[in-house]
Amino acid sequence: MNSMRDMISINQPAIGKEEIEAVVEVLKSGILSEKSGRGPRVLQFEKDFSKYVGAKHAVAVSSGTAALHSALLAVGIQPGDEVVVPSFTFSATAEAVVLAGGRPSFADIDADTYAITPESIEAALTSKTKAILPVHMYGLCADMDPIMELARNRGLIVIEDAAQAHGAEYKGRRAGSIGDATCFSFYAGKNMTTGEGGMVTTNDDDLAEQMRMIRTHGEERPYWVSRQGHNYHMPEIAGALGIVQLKKLPGFLEERRKNAEYLTEKLSVLGKLVMPKEPAGRKHAWYLFSPRLRGANAGKRNKLVEKLRSRNIGAAVYYESPVHMLPYYRDLQSTRRSALPETERACRQVFSLPVHPQLRQTELQFITDSVKRAV
Ligand SMILES: Cc1ncc(COP(=O)(O)O)c(C=O)c1O
Repeated sequence: MNSMRDMISINQPAIGKEEIEAVVEVLKSGILSEKSGRGPRVLQFEKDFSKYVGAKHAVAVSSGTAALHSALLAVGIQPGDEVVVPSFTFSATAEAVVLAGGRPSFADIDADTYAITPESIEAALTSKTKAILPVHMYGLCADMDPIMELARNRGLIVIEDAAQAHGAEYKGRRAGSIGDATCFSFYAGKNMTTGEGGMVTTNDDDLAEQMRMIRTHGEERPYWVSRQGHNYHMPEIAGALGIVQLKKLPGFLEERRKNAEYLTEKLSVLGKLVMPKEPAGRKHAWYLFSPRLRGANAGKRNKLVEKLRSRNIGAAVYYESPVHMLPYYRDLQSTRRSALPETERACRQVFSLPVHPQLRQTELQFITDSVKRAV
C-alpha cells in the first residue's frame, strides 16, 4: 500500500484561495514592482511583519540570503572582519558573511538546541571579530540573553538568522525583536512563504535606513547613489502573498505544534531516538521536527532515512556536512574554526521528519509507525 502512497513531503507551501486572489489583484493593478522597492503591498507587508515580531522596522528584500547580506553590509562588515557563525546551518549563513567581505569564524553548537553558545562563541573570538550571527535552528531560538550580554560586553553586533524561525519565541519575545537585526526567509518551504523573499527587522533607525538603501543600489533618493548596494527588491506579488501568509502564520504554527506533540508522544518511547527539545522559556516554531539517532554514525542514520523514503516519507538530513567541510569553505583560506565536535556529531546523527501543517492524521500515524519499524 505504501508504494502507492504519494511522497509525504518534508515541507510544502499552504496556498489557499486568499493567496490566489491577492496575486490576481496585483496583476490587475499593474503595479508589479516599484523603483525603490516600496510598492504598496511591500510597504503593508513590512508594517504587518514589524508589528507581528515587535520590532520598530521591517525591510523586505528578495531572499533570506539578501536579508543576511544587507544586514551585514548595513552594520559595516568590512574585508577582514570576522563574524562568528555556526557550521551546523544552511550554507547561506556563511555565504552572506563572505559576500559582505567578512570571514566566517565557525563556532560549535549545543547538543540539545543545535545553536551556538556563549562558550563556543568565546572560543571563536579574536581581535578581528565584529559580529555574532546565531541561527535559530529548526525553528528554536538560540539562548539569546547570554549571547546578547556577551556581545554587549565585547562591543559586538548581533545579527540573528531566523530564516527557519518565524513566530518562535524567547522569554515572551518573538524572534525578530532581540538582536541588532534579525533576518527571515520566505522561501517556498518555510513556515510562511512569498515564493522567494526575505525580511530584516530592527529597532535601529539608522540600520533600517541603510538596508533600505542597500536594497536599491545604495540610493539615498531616486538615482542618487551614496553607498554600495544591490537590487534586492521584493516584488509586489511576493508582498501580497506575505500579507496573507502572515495572517495565517499563527494557525500554521498551532498545527505544527500539534503535529510535533504527536510525533514526540509516539516516538519518545523509542530509546534509540533523542527527541527535539523545547527548553523552558522558549517557544519552538517547529519548522522541522529533527530527532537524533542516538550514538549512530552517518551510515546508520542515512540507512534509516532511506528506509523511510522507500515508504514515501520525505525524511531528510539537514545538514549532512558542516559548512566548514563543504568544498568551497574547506578551500577558502579566510575561514577560522576551532574544534567543532558537537557540530560533526549532529551532522552524523540528526534527521528530520515532516511536521508541516498540511499533514493528515493518517499520514502522521503512518510516519510514526514507519519510524518504529525502521529504527
Ligand atoms: C538557516 C538559513 N539561513 C539562510 C537561509 C537563506 O534563505 P533564502 O533561501 O531565502 O535565501 C535559509 C533558507 O533556506 C536558512 O535555512
